[in-house]
Amino acid sequence: MLDVNKIRADFPILSQKVNGKALVYFDNGATSQKPQVVIDAISKYYQEINANIHRGVHTLSQLATDAYEISRGKLQNHINAKFPHEVLFTSGTTHGINLVANGFASILKPGDEILVSAMEHHSNIVPWQMLCEKTGAILRVIPMNLNGELIMSEYDKLLSDKTKIVTVNHISNALGTVNPIKYMIDKAHEAGAAILIDGAQAVPHLKPDVQELNCDFYVFSGHKICGPTGVGILYGKEAWLNKLPPYQGGGEMIKEVTFEKTTYAELPHKFEAGTPNIAGGIVLGTAVDYMNEVGFDNIQQQELELLEYGTKRLLEIEGLKIFGTAAAKTSVISFNIEGIHPYDIGTIIDKLGIAVRTGHHCAQPIMDFFKIPGTIRASFAFYNTPEEIDVMVEAIKKAKVMLS
Ligand code: ALA
Repeated sequence: MLDVNKIRADFPILSQKVNGKALVYFDNGATSQKPQVVIDAISKYYQEINANIHRGVHTLSQLATDAYEISRGKLQNHINAKFPHEVLFTSGTTHGINLVANGFASILKPGDEILVSAMEHHSNIVPWQMLCEKTGAILRVIPMNLNGELIMSEYDKLLSDKTKIVTVNHISNALGTVNPIKYMIDKAHEAGAAILIDGAQAVPHLKPDVQELNCDFYVFSGHKICGPTGVGILYGKEAWLNKLPPYQGGGEMIKEVTFEKTTYAELPHKFEAGTPNIAGGIVLGTAVDYMNEVGFDNIQQQELELLEYGTKRLLEIEGLKIFGTAAAKTSVISFNIEGIHPYDIGTIIDKLGIAVRTGHHCAQPIMDFFKIPGTIRASFAFYNTPEEIDVMVEAIKKAKVMLS
C-alpha cells in the first residue's frame, strides 16, 4: 500500500497555495510534478560536474559523460531494451516521432501506406502527414467507437502489404484509453510493417517491456515521469536504427568529416547530434529510480482507485458527460457539462486552486469525432488523493451554479 502522505512530502510544490487555496494538481497528463530528489539532482549536476560530454579528457567531462551513460543504462533497464545503444536521448516524444518519420522518407515510395489511429495526439499525426507530402505515401486512419476504443476488426482490414508503418499511442492523452498494443504490434509485423508506439501517456502509469512487446520504436518524454522537461527517450530496435539515416547533422554524430564526404558515428551517437540536454538526461535516470522506488504496482493501485472514485463522484453532477469510457482505461477523466464551455469551468476552478487542462488536448480529431469543442480533463497521478477529488467536485458544482 502506498503511503500517499509520505509520497506527497517528496513534492514541495504540492504543499503550495495557488490563488490562496491549497493546490489540487490534476494536470498530470500535461506534465508531472517533481520530487525533491529530482530537483536536488539538477542543482547537484550544475554545482559539481557540469561539463560537455563525450568530448574532453578532463575530469569533469569524464564525470558528466559517465553520469549520462549510467542514466542511459538505467533507462535501458527500465524499458528492458536489449542494448544501451537502442536507447536514444531526445528532447521529448515529439522529437522521437519526428526522428523516425524523417528516417522513413528514405524508405517510403508513392502509394505506400502509413496507419495512424483516430485517437492520436497531433505530434503523432502531423509528422506523418509531412512524410506523406514528401514521399507520396498515404495516411490511413484506424477508427474508434463511441467508447473511445480502437476497432480492431477495422485495423485488421486496413493492414496490407502496402502498410509500411503503423503508429499508435499506448494510452490516449485525451481519453485515457489503454490500447491493445501487443495485438497491434503482432498484426503489424504479420503484414510486414514496422510499428511505433507513442508511450508518452503510458510511462507515468506502467513500465513498458519493449522486448516482450516486440515493438520497433517506443517513444516517451521525461517530464511526465517526474523528470525535467526537454528530455525524452526514443527506443528503436538496433536493426531499424542502423537502417534509418541520421536526423540532424552536426558534432558528435560523425566518424569522419571531410569536405568530400562524411561518415557517421555508431549508435547511439549517430542520432545524437550537438550538445544534448546533459542535466536532463542524467536527472531522467534519477526520476526513473524514484518512480521504481515508489513501485509501479503501488502507482497503478492508487491511480485505479482515483479513477474509480473520480468517475463515480463526477457522474453525480447533473449534465456531466465523460468522453472516453473504454473498458481498459488509465487515470484520465475527460468530461463536459451540458451547456457550459470547458474553458469557463477551468477558469473558475483555477481560482479555487484546482489545475485541470481544458481544450482539445492537442487531439482535435478526437474532439471532431465527438462533435465537441474540447473537454475538461482531470488526469490523476499516484500523489493525488480522493479528498482532492472531493474538492474538485465541490468546485465544479459551484462553477456550474455561477455559470447556469
Ligand atoms: N500532451 C500533453 C497533454 O496531453 C501536453 O496535456
